[in-house]
Amino acid sequence: MKIKTLVIILMTLSCSRLQIVDPLAGHKRQEYEASSENYMISTQGVYSSKAGKKMFELGGNAVDAATAISFVISVERPQSTGLGGGGFMLINIPGSGVKAIDFREKAPLKAYEKMYLDKDGKEIPRMSLDGIHAGGVPGLVAGVLEAHSRYGKLPIEKVLAPAIELAEKGFDVYPELAFALNHRKKVLARFPSSKAIFLHSDGTPLIVGEKIFQKDLAKTLKTIVKKGKNGFYRGWVAKAIVKESKKRGGFIRYGDLRRYNVKWREPVVGKYKGLDIYSMSPPSSGGVHVVQILNILEGLELKKFGPQSPKSIHYTASAMQLAFADRAKYLGDADFVKVPVKGLTSKAYAKELRAQIQPNTAKKMKAVDHGNPFPYESSETTHFTVMDRYGFVVSSTQTINGLMGSGLVIPGTGIVLNNEMDDFATKVGAKNLFGAVGGEKNLVESEKRPLSSMSPTIVLNKGKPVIALGTPSGTRILTCVAQVLLNYLEHELPLYESVAATRIHHQWYPDSIRIGPPYFNDKLLNRLKGIGYKINKSPLHCRIQAISNEEGKLHGVSDPRGEGLSIGG
Ligand code: DON
Repeated sequence: MKIKTLVIILMTLSCSRLQIVDPLAGHKRQEYEASSENYMISTQGVYSSKAGKKMFELGGNAVDAATAISFVISVERPQSTGLGGGGFMLINIPGSGVKAIDFREKAPLKAYEKMYLDKDGKEIPRMSLDGIHAGGVPGLVAGVLEAHSRYGKLPIEKVLAPAIELAEKGFDVYPELAFALNHRKKVLARFPSSKAIFLHSDGTPLIVGEKIFQKDLAKTLKTIVKKGKNGFYRGWVAKAIVKESKKRGGFIRYGDLRRYNVKWREPVVGKYKGLDIYSMSPPSSGGVHVVQILNILEGLELKKFGPQSPKSIHYTASAMQLAFADRAKYLGDADFVKVPVKGLTSKAYAKELRAQIQPNTAKKMKAVDHGNPFPYESSETTHFTVMDRYGFVVSSTQTINGLMGSGLVIPGTGIVLNNEMDDFATKVGAKNLFGAVGGEKNLVESEKRPLSSMSPTIVLNKGKPVIALGTPSGTRILTCVAQVLLNYLEHELPLYESVAATRIHHQWYPDSIRIGPPYFNDKLLNRLKGIGYKINKSPLHCRIQAISNEEGKLHGVSDPRGEGLSIGG
C-alpha cells in the first residue's frame, strides 16, 4: 500500500513537471512578459499597451493609462469590446483601498421577463444574440469617464488622442480579428453599417494584413472629448442609437440612455493564506466564485500534491463544480434580487462544501449530454491590468459579450452594439452562449443588469499589491482567474508559468472537465478518467493579463495563448 502511494506521488510529480516546464511549445516567452520598476501594463493589444505607456510618459497615472487603454482597445479589438459595451473596473488607491466600478449594460426600460420567448414559451433562436434585441444599454463610456474624472490627471483630449488616431489611420487586421469577422460575417452582412466597416462589398470579411478604418468611430470619440459622457448618452450619438433601435423594433430609447448610471460597488473580499483578495461583486458572479473556490481549496493545501497532479486537478474541478451549482441558484443583479454574498464567500460555508468532496471520486451532478455546448466562441471580451510603483492598480474587464457583439453597428457612429442581454436567463434552466444554466434570479427585468462572470481581481498584502489579473472568456473567466491565483499563491510558480500552465474548467453543467492547451499527457488524462471525469479537450479561450509586484519589481505577463503585450517603464 505504501509503495503504491509512493508510485502515485512520483507519477504525479513527473506529470506536473512535464506540464509546467514546457508551457506552450512554439511561443516565444519573452514576447509575453516584461519586468520594470516604475509601471507595468498588460493588455490584449499592442496599440493599447503602447497608449497606456504613453500616458505614463506624459506624466499621467494608472487611471489615465487605463482610460486611454479602454478607448484604444475599443478600436483595436472591435470583436471584443467597445463603446457599445460595458464592464467592471477595480482600482487600488494606495492608502485608501480597493474601489469597484460597475458599468455593466442594463436591460432597457421596456425589457421584460419573457421577451425572448415565443407564445408557447420556447426561446426564439438567436434573438438574444444577434441584432438590436440582443443589446443592453451600454455603460462603457460612462464608466470609464467616471474613473477618469475621479482619479485621472491628464486632460481627456490627451487621453483619447491615441484611440482617435488609431480609428482614423487604421491598422492591419490581425489573426484573432480576422477569425472573428469570418465567424460573424453572416450577421455583419445583414447590416449595411456593419458591412461597410468589417466586410468587403461582396460580403467576404477583411482578412489578415488588410487595413481596417473606423472613421465614424473617430467622430464619436471626438464628440466624447468635447462633451464628455453627454457626447454619448445625449446629442447626435444618442439620436443615432434610438433611431436605429426604433427602425428595427428594438427597445432602447432616450430615457434608457439618459438614465444609464454607473455604480460604485463594494468589491467582494476574501482571504487566502493571509492575503486579501478583492474581486468584482454582483452583478458579476466572478468575485464571489473566485473567492468561494479559493476558500474551498485553501483547507486542502494543494501544494503538497503538486500543481498539476490528479489530486489537485480533482479537488479544483470539484470546487468549481460546487461553485457553479451555487451560481445558477443564487446569483443575479443584487439591486434586484437577494444574493447571499457573505454566505457564499464565508470560510464556514466553504468548509461545509469541502466536506462534500470525495478524495478519489468525481461527483456526478446528473446524467447529461456530453456534446459540445459551446457552438461559437473565441477570445471575445478583453482584460487589461496596470500597476505602478506606488501601488496604484487598475484591473478592468470590458466586453460586448460574444464575438462582434450583436453584429449591429449603429449607423454613422462606428459603435458595435453589445449582445449582453444573452447573459440573462431567457427562462429558468435555459443556457447562455457559454452553456451556463440560467436561474430565477437572473431573469430579464426592466433596468436590471445581466449576470456576468467577469472577475477583475487585485490581491493585497497589508495594503500592498501582490498580483492583479483578469481575463476574457465567459464563464471560464472565474475559473481561469482562480487557477492562476492558485498557481501563483499556493503552488508558488513564477508568474509566467502560473499563466501559461494548463488550465481546466468545470461548470457543473455539462458534467465534464474541459481541459485547454497545452493538454495534459495521456497518463494524466487516464488518471482523471479513473477518478470518474468525462474529459473535454478544448481551448478555454482565457487570455490572462497579470501583473505582480515582487519586492518592488513589477512583472507583467500577457497570456501566451493570445495576442497581448506587456510593457513597462
Ligand atoms: O459578462 C460576462 O461574463 C460575459 N458577457 C463575458 C463574455 C466573454 O468573456 C466572452 N469571451 N469569450
